[in-house]
Amino acid sequence: MSVQPKLIIHGGAGSSLKGKGGLAAVRQSLHEIVQDIYNLLINGSSATEAVIEGCKRLEDEPRFNAGTGSVLQSDGQIRMSAALMDGASQRFSGVINTSRVQNPIELAKFLQNESDRVLSDYGAAEILRELNFPIYDPLTDLRLNEWIEERKDNFQKKMAGTVAEAELAEARRGTIGVVALDNQGRIAAGTSTGGKGLERIGRVSDSAMPAGNYATQNAGVSCTGIGEDIIDECLAAKVVIRVSDGLSLAEAMQRSMQESYNHKRDLGAIALDATGTIAWGKTSEVLLAAYHDGETVSDTLEWTGDELTDSIF
Ligand code: GLY
Repeated sequence: MSVQPKLIIHGGAGSSLKGKGGLAAVRQSLHEIVQDIYNLLINGSSATEAVIEGCKRLEDEPRFNAGTGSVLQSDGQIRMSAALMDGASQRFSGVINTSRVQNPIELAKFLQNESDRVLSDYGAAEILRELNFPIYDPLTDLRLNEWIEERKDNFQKKMAGTVAEAELAEARRGTIGVVALDNQGRIAAGTSTGGKGLERIGRVSDSAMPAGNYATQNAGVSCTGIGEDIIDECLAAKVVIRVSDGLSLAEAMQRSMQESYNHKRDLGAIALDATGTIAWGKTSEVLLAAYHDGETVSDTLEWTGDELTDSIF
């Protein structure tokens, strides 16, 4: 029996969307990507294929903190992390702190079929060589200039800015993510990030952990926000497991976000489940997400109310 595909993507979370110019550009970018990736699902792509393509598109968009446009760490280097989880096989793969690659999600894709499925820096570099991936520099002028500015303050800030427009400069919790339900009822989730920015060398992001990216045959979740907060809540896996244990996705998201709020976390999450419900939540002020419910594209960019979560069937 054919299932109505569903799709949700995000380009991070943050503290404010100040200018409409910034909002319009982010909206256009997210909507275009959602529509294009949804078309793949309509044309029979698997959830995993759609997630990989969606992550690549978001990684290639310099305004988001993943792939091209990733923020620089304390030593001025870019180190990226990405994960892919195929919910049907319940299989997680990922790379941690990889460099010189255009699309870190491609490495996670390759590792799906390996016996060693999560690799860090040197191991990821070896795979790049083995696969003959071209050397790629994801640095943008904007990120370099941000880093130079931060250096002037001797790294007083804990994180870098992560959304390109000046109006969005306070949106500091960048990551990208995609969760898809395909026409066979399969779910997949992917997440990719340049990290927090200005972090210590060797700091490990939530994005390549089940805390930040998780999927089963029941539900899938991709998180954004402060990695340490997401890890402490084990957020993605917690929402998915709550669904597996019988809560609706809306309830699972609400309970998990309430806990995050009570613990003063700074994060957001997107999700969908096997019944076709799409859900999202945040404790940060804004969540840069867009979704396709089978009929139309909508987004969460101006969703700044008091509710911690929302959902659509
Ligand atoms: N959520 C991305 C990071 O903190 O690395």
